[in-house]
Amino acid sequence: MPQLVVTTREGEEKTIEAGSGLNAMEAIRDAGIDELLALCGGCCSCATCHVYVDPAFADRLPAMSEDENDLLDSSEHRQATSRLSCQIVLTEDVEGLRLTIAPED
Ligand code: FES
Repeated sequence: MPQLVVTTREGEEKTIEAGSGLNAMEAIRDAGIDELLALCGGCCSCATCHVYVDPAFADRLPAMSEDENDLLDSSEHRQATSRLSCQIVLTEDVEGLRLTIAPED
């Protein structure tokens, strides 16, 4: 079961266990962190699951789709390390993945 280290908007760091096959948005919500609205439920159409990925893990994540890229462009808080957490499927390859929840748009 992959572990995830999540930094909340208040700067609190939480280590959570993620069920296999979940995406990062689901894992964060399942852990009781309620800062991600995830309004579209993971369909890649709302951008309310925006996170920043620790650069050390950037190469280990699946490539960004055009839809994800377009949605991130709609955020005022986009950075080089921005991703939509519902598009990050958790596998053993990303064990220890560190994410920071982006500010709300
Ligand atoms: S939950 Fe809507 S884009 Fe991720």
